[in-house]
Amino acid sequence: MKALILAGGFGTRLRPISCTRPKLLFPIANKPILDLTLRRLAESGVTEVILAVSFMADALERAFGKSKHRIRLHYSRDSLPDSSSAALGTGGAIKQAENLLRTEECFFALNGDILSEANYLKILQHHREKGRMATIALQRVEDPSRYGVVKLSKEGLIEEFVEKPTKDAPSNLVNAGIYVFNSEIFEYIQPGKACSIEREVFPKISKERKLLGHEISSLWIDVGKPVDYIKANRIWIARQVEASRFPLKGTDVEKNASIQQPVCIDENVGIGKNSEIGPNVSIGRGCLIGADVRIQGSIIFPSVEIRDQTTITGTIIGEGVKIGEKVTIGKGCLIGDRVTIRDGVRLVNNVKVCPYREVSSNASRGQCVI
Ligand code: GTP
Repeated sequence: MKALILAGGFGTRLRPISCTRPKLLFPIANKPILDLTLRRLAESGVTEVILAVSFMADALERAFGKSKHRIRLHYSRDSLPDSSSAALGTGGAIKQAENLLRTEECFFALNGDILSEANYLKILQHHREKGRMATIALQRVEDPSRYGVVKLSKEGLIEEFVEKPTKDAPSNLVNAGIYVFNSEIFEYIQPGKACSIEREVFPKISKERKLLGHEISSLWIDVGKPVDYIKANRIWIARQVEASRFPLKGTDVEKNASIQQPVCIDENVGIGKNSEIGPNVSIGRGCLIGADVRIQGSIIFPSVEIRDQTTITGTIIGEGVKIGEKVTIGKGCLIGDRVTIRDGVRLVNNVKVCPYREVSSNASRGQCVI
């Protein structure tokens, strides 16, 4: 069985962290999201995966190479005839991979930015039993307005597909970004043109009664927004507490530092005396944390340095960031890769700092340091 993973989006909602890293390389409990997806696909018997890449394609290819978890990896790059590289949209990217998938009776297609424990084999079984052209996994959510929402018939066919309804959503069952397609799907997408599968193909095939829905009820989080990314990390590390037992290779936690689980700490991390880490914190490889530091509900990417008496809450800190002494960073801040934050600075309430900037004065309430 083959699977295609959509991996080429710009991840604009996660900027500025996504300015220097594709979303699928964002760590969850210190492992790239893509790693977690490939592992689950391997467990479901998938042996070949096509990564439909575009934005920062080279970074993905460098990180994952030719195989992972015994899955052979292929890279299909978005390209339009009149430009060397351009985003094809979700449908265009699927069409671009046609040569690699056409031979399959059916294949999985997944949005790469979903943390899910959906049972892929059950979705496939449903697809085969019902014998239609496409099956979408559906998730029940409280607020469907930011998703593709469906109306399901008694036989399980999708009768209506509305992408991001502004009002009167037909149900609270939404597109979970996990599909099984027969190769006939390629006939619905024009080659060499940008196309959204959600907006251009699904409404059409639902009218033709070829689109099935299959409700899943497992863990499912779309990590497209910072708050959901932090939530996904929190839930995942709570399941991995085992993995954060000490001593990890090269990791050195001072005896009187306190670790409040769930916390996920990678290798070669140093944590100074009296520091309090957790709950709901992940700390990437090679981070150096000083004394009397407090970190809660945050994701710290690799190689970050945090000096003494600094407090970090509800924040994402990009790779290689240097944070001085007595700094406060709180509530929804996003700090881009390799930023330097000087001693005593206070950044609170959704401040964003672009990569490589140096910050020496306070900022708050959604300010953007560019
Ligand atoms: P935002 O810009 O924040 O909306 O994020 P995004 O660009 O990732 O878009 P979205 O979350 O809607 O994308 C869903 C999935 O499709 C993600 O895994 C994306 O990487 C992928 N994707 C979106 N657009 C494209 C595209 O044009 N080409 C390819 N190859 N993949 C895409």
